[in-house]
Amino acid sequence: SAAILSMNKDSIFVKKYHEGVKKTQYWEYYYEDALNLLAKLPEIAAFIYRLKYRNGDIIPPDPKLDFGGNFAHMMGIAKPYDEVARMYFILHSDHESGNVSAHTGHLVASALSDIYYAISAMLNGLAGPLHGLANEEVLRWLHGVMEKMGGKVPTEEEMKNFVYETLKTSVIPGYGHAVLRKTDPRYMAQREFCLKHLPNDTLFKYVDLLFKVVPPILLEQGKAKNPWPNVDAQSGVIQWYYGVKEYEFYTVLFGIGRALGVCSNIIWARALGYPIERPKSLTTAMLEEVAFGKK
Ligand SMILES: CC(C)(COP(=O)(O)OP(=O)(O)OC[C@H]1O[C@@H](n2cnc3c(N)ncnc32)[C@H](O)[C@@H]1OP(=O)(O)O)[C@@H](O)C(=O)NCCC(=O)NCCS
Repeated sequence: SAAILSMNKDSIFVKKYHEGVKKTQYWEYYYEDALNLLAKLPEIAAFIYRLKYRNGDIIPPDPKLDFGGNFAHMMGIAKPYDEVARMYFILHSDHESGNVSAHTGHLVASALSDIYYAISAMLNGLAGPLHGLANEEVLRWLHGVMEKMGGKVPTEEEMKNFVYETLKTSVIPGYGHAVLRKTDPRYMAQREFCLKHLPNDTLFKYVDLLFKVVPPILLEQGKAKNPWPNVDAQSGVIQWYYGVKEYEFYTVLFGIGRALGVCSNIIWARALGYPIERPKSLTTAMLEEVAFGKK
């Protein structure tokens, strides 16, 4: 988010706004800014990764490659990681705009803050454990269980006990959703990938077992409105398998994908002339009126 914020000086929209362009043209400059930003995101992420985890051995981009292919190249990971990158970025682009990161990006841009400000803010929302950080939490949880099991795949009963133990203090990461009431189709897409490319991977076997064990337990507990797995339950396992073993990088990957969807939403909002967003504030008297009717 800091890297994106530092590029705000390059905003074409800000320049054009100060030159006095018409409101109906705002979207064109948001569009230019979005393309410039999106073109840089994979390079920024791969740069951070190689700097932090690969001794600063930076791989320059190859402009002949596509978005996902170039990212895989700059990460220094062989095929089929290019396919993983394509799948990952598309699956993590926004799906309905109400989630914390998408809504935050949309909200900030509604004040006509430029796309760099908006996407930087979006990433800060994504960083919470109930949202984009859940993929990292899932892997940490899985490895915690794996350590206790000495690397063996638990039986169904043993896995149930780990789930019950976790529920004493926290949520089960990767399960539940604010809107979805069925298994997340993004989970299923990644599951299909795993069944094809890594069916015998131990971590995948853990995830597969959880898919069997967790929903009945959450249903029995009766609190979660959606007991099924979400996108984060599966994604970290694939990254781990292809050598991206640094959990704290997973939300950065999520951020690249999410930016694709949120940038499109922001451009449409400007093209349709949406107003600045503001939640309605209510006084106590107004709430009493809603609850008890007019006095
Ligand atoms: C995604 C999430 C934040 C949605 O929250 P929400 O809309 O408030 O969900 P619900 O309305 O179903 O929550 C009702 C109750 O069920 C609980 N619940 C929901 N998901 C749960 C889970 N995975 N494990 C245990 N309890 C869960 C909530 O904590 C809440 O309990 P409370 O009343 O004691 O506070 C929530 O399901 C969650 O925390 N999931 C785990 C984190 C995660 O995977 N996030 C990524 C989402 S894509």
